[in-house]
Amino acid sequence: MPKAIRFSRTGGPEVLEFLDMDTPEPGPGEIRVSNRAIGLNYIEIYFRSGVYPVPGLPSGLGTEGAGVVDAVGEGVTGFAVGDRVAYAQAPLGSYAEQHILPADKAIQLPESVDFETAAATMLKGLTVQYLLRQTYPVKAGETILFHAAAGGVGLIACQWAKALGAKLIGTVSGPEKARLAMDHGAWATINYKEEDIVERVRELTGGDMVPVVYDSIGKDTWETSLDCLQKRGLMVSFGNTTGPVSGVNIGILNQKGSLYVTRPSLAGYADTRPRFEAMCGELFEMLASGDIKADINQRFSLADAARAHESLASGQTTGSTVLLP
Ligand SMILES: NC(=O)c1ccc[n+]([C@@H]2O[C@H](COP(=O)([O-])OP(=O)(O)OC[C@H]3O[C@@H](n4cnc5c(N)ncnc54)[C@H](OP(=O)(O)O)[C@@H]3O)[C@@H](O)[C@H]2O)c1
Repeated sequence: MPKAIRFSRTGGPEVLEFLDMDTPEPGPGEIRVSNRAIGLNYIEIYFRSGVYPVPGLPSGLGTEGAGVVDAVGEGVTGFAVGDRVAYAQAPLGSYAEQHILPADKAIQLPESVDFETAAATMLKGLTVQYLLRQTYPVKAGETILFHAAAGGVGLIACQWAKALGAKLIGTVSGPEKARLAMDHGAWATINYKEEDIVERVRELTGGDMVPVVYDSIGKDTWETSLDCLQKRGLMVSFGNTTGPVSGVNIGILNQKGSLYVTRPSLAGYADTRPRFEAMCGELFEMLASGDIKADINQRFSLADAARAHESLASGQTTGSTVLLP
């Protein structure tokens, strides 16, 4: 019987159980993937803890993985048993040896991309693609602020920003993470435990501040991030690591300089098959050219998903983490 992580109540990592499951069969338009590697993402902490609702309990967890197609449902075109594929927006349940998903959420993997790299970079890399290339198309020479620069999304952003010729200022919690971000192409880092983020951005930009802030920290950095922006700058609030931003009086955007704010998600950008394929194509090119390397700095067995969650939630991880079935 294939194994999977399930949870029947929301809460801490201890709610995650490693259980035997029936072998599921794909329905019309679906494929079944035998996972070889599964990506770990912060969003799964929101689902597990109840910050984001799940469709029902008990529930599976995880939307990202890479593996081999081992069954194909009726009407599926473009995928056959034996194909190497990856996916990042599947229904919850990728923390499993096998996962069923709509075929249009999967992409054929180029030979050059191995399963672990795919699982480590699909969701995070596609996120960086839309953040730096679509939400605010970053131009060569621009200085940008990116929080959690040594994290999974963060290290990919450092590399992608450098490839674009931009100067990424990354926030980090300590010197080791600062070194890591710099090694991956950050132009400067700010250790937010010891330094004032706004003052450092002012110094680093010669008083100009930045045209865009990419903020996944949420509640704790909302106002700080707004204060780092130039007039008419864009605040991209794309995560809730310290809790969601709520109760905002939009007058603050006027007071702080006629600012713009957006709260984007991958689902809102990879919302059609052509857009999804174009974004994957760009990501795979960045991987093939070596501009972006997957930094898989933590590997856990699938059975150890709870321990993986503890590490990610406590800020102990750097780069990407994969679960191995
Ligand atoms: N909207 C979207 O489309 C989208 C897609 C993917 C990810 N995201 C968001 O992007 C963020 C990064 O995701 P990820 O999976 O790559 O995680 P990650 O960045 O690897 O891990 C989170 C990092 O946040 C920092 N952090 C700051 N305050 C923290 C706190 N109180 N507790 C724990 N960590 C704290 C830590 O780095 P330091 O130690 O340096 O502070 C930590 O390593 C998450 O908020 C996620 O939800 C959004």
